[in-house]
Parts: sequence; structure tokens; C-alpha cells
Amino acid sequence: MSDRVFVTRSIPESGLARIREQADCNVWPEQLPPDASRLAEISAGCTGIVTLLSDRIDAAFFDAVGPQLKVVSNFAVGYNNIDVAEATRRGIAVGNTPDVLTDATADVAVGLLLAAARCFREGIENVAQLAWKTWEPMGFIGQDLAGKTLGIVGMGRIGAATAARLRHGWNMDVVYTSRSPKPEVDDQLQARRVELNELLQISDFISVHTDLNPQTERLFDAAAFDRMKSTSVLVNTSRGGVLDQAALAAALANGQIFAAGLDVTDPEPLPSDSELHELPNCVILPHIGSGTVAARDAMAQIAADNVLLGMAGKPLRHPVNPS
Ligand code: GLV
Repeated sequence: MSDRVFVTRSIPESGLARIREQADCNVWPEQLPPDASRLAEISAGCTGIVTLLSDRIDAAFFDAVGPQLKVVSNFAVGYNNIDVAEATRRGIAVGNTPDVLTDATADVAVGLLLAAARCFREGIENVAQLAWKTWEPMGFIGQDLAGKTLGIVGMGRIGAATAARLRHGWNMDVVYTSRSPKPEVDDQLQARRVELNELLQISDFISVHTDLNPQTERLFDAAAFDRMKSTSVLVNTSRGGVLDQAALAAALANGQIFAAGLDVTDPEPLPSDSELHELPNCVILPHIGSGTVAARDAMAQIAADNVLLGMAGKPLRHPVNPS
């Protein structure tokens, strides 16, 4: 009997076709995700699951799916949606899709940084509302990028790619926080590893690239915004939970920081009553960091490799369980 795989949303055919060749593959056909009980119900009896970052995969899910489950293949680089410790305890392999979305996500970080620094949201809304009357010498005045200080929070692959763009393109000075020293980044980008408080105080632009974990949850709270420059711009393309959104809204509304650009929120989608919707100095995108043809195709291929290898009992192409 062939292995059964559930794919929790439609993903590029480059990956799906490979799974279909080797397994009995069922794909959730709707745009909105199945709720937790439906997800568990459809996944019951599967040996492999391809999940999205919006699917919560935990002990209750594993109980419902059954002991034959061998692998969870997340169609994302981040995997905070999965209880990896619990999967490991049960001998279930977990895989992710790193590297192939690094450039795509770094491009969005830089795009958000420019958009927030140069008042794109105000400008776009002004034009769309037919309120553009004349060339405005005193309106839509933003911040320069060239030669400023960039703070990267989380100097992994995407943080380094974002820093490289801003170092080489705008000659920014780069400081960063990271769990471990990054001598190659220090060399290539003349970057300096600092404590978070120093980074908050000296940076003109801050781009967040850390994963979401108990140490980084709500890392940017009211106290952090207090330390930042009133001219500073904050960009987040990692996970919404790294920021305290109420504190961010207050900091943006009272001029404690200049602007923010968010590709991620908590929760997603951003609730309709969030104050961030009302703030012209907050540019918000619907989590599109990896959204290019090439990145999503490559992610689908890795997700397929991970699920097929896991079902065959072989090491995944990109495993995230501790070795
Ligand atoms: C996107 O946020 C990802 O983790 O791939």
C-alpha cells in the first residue's frame, strides 16, 4: 500500500507532481486553511504531511494523526508553528525550506525599509484618494538612507543578505545582534556585533530577522521603543510575535519612532480593529517575503524532497530536529 501524504494547501506543481508520483497525495483545495480539528481528521493515517506556517502542529495533532506519521515537511524556513521537541520525542522528522528564499525575503526587507523611510503609504493613499493637488514642498518628507547605521536583529542568512544590500547599495554602517559571533560577516560587511540595547540606541534603521522563540517573543516592547531614535525606521520580515504590536502602535502614533514596515503580524491576518491600520507611517504587507516564482518553486521542491525522504526513513534534505 502506498504512503499517504496530506498537503495542507495548494503549493507549486514542481513539488506536488513529485509527491504524487510516489504517494497517495491529498491537497486541501481551499484558500483558507482547515481548522485544527479538520486538519487532524484529514491527516489521520498519513505517513507524511506538508504543512504551512499557519498550521499548528503539536501533540494533539500527532495523537490524532496516529503513530505511522514519519515526517512533517514545513513549506517555510521558519517552523515556530511546529512543536519540534514533541515531534523528536515521537521519532517524527521535521523539515524546512531554507536558503532558497533568502534573496526574495531580503528584497522585501529592503523594499519595506525604503517604503517606510520615504512615506510611500501616505503618498500612495494620497494619490488613490484623489487628494493630490500639487507638488508639495513640505509634504511626504522622509529619511535618507545613505551612510546611516543599520541594526540587524538576528544575523542569519536573511539578515546577512539584507545587510549586504544596504551596506553595498547605501554604504550603511552595520551593527547586529546574534547568538554567536559572525566573523565572515564582520569581514565582508565591516559589521560589528553589539548588545541589543546599544543597537536600539545607535541604529537609524532596524531590520528584524530573528526566529520566534521564548527569548525573542515581544522583544520589541515599550522599553525597546523608548531606546530607539525618534527618526528611526523599524522593519520586520521574520515573525509578528517578535514585536508588541500595541507598543509599536503607540510608538508610531506619538513619534517615538519615525515609521515601520511589516511583512508579518501577530496574528495573521492583522485583525480589522488593529490600530496599525490607521497609522500612515506603518507600511504593512501580507507576508510576501518568499513570494517570487523561483523561491516558491524551489521551496516546493525541497518540501517534496523532505516528505519523500522522511517517509523512506532517510535523512531529510533540510532537517530541523536536533541531531
Ligand atoms: C516565511 O515566513 C517562512 O518562514 O518561510
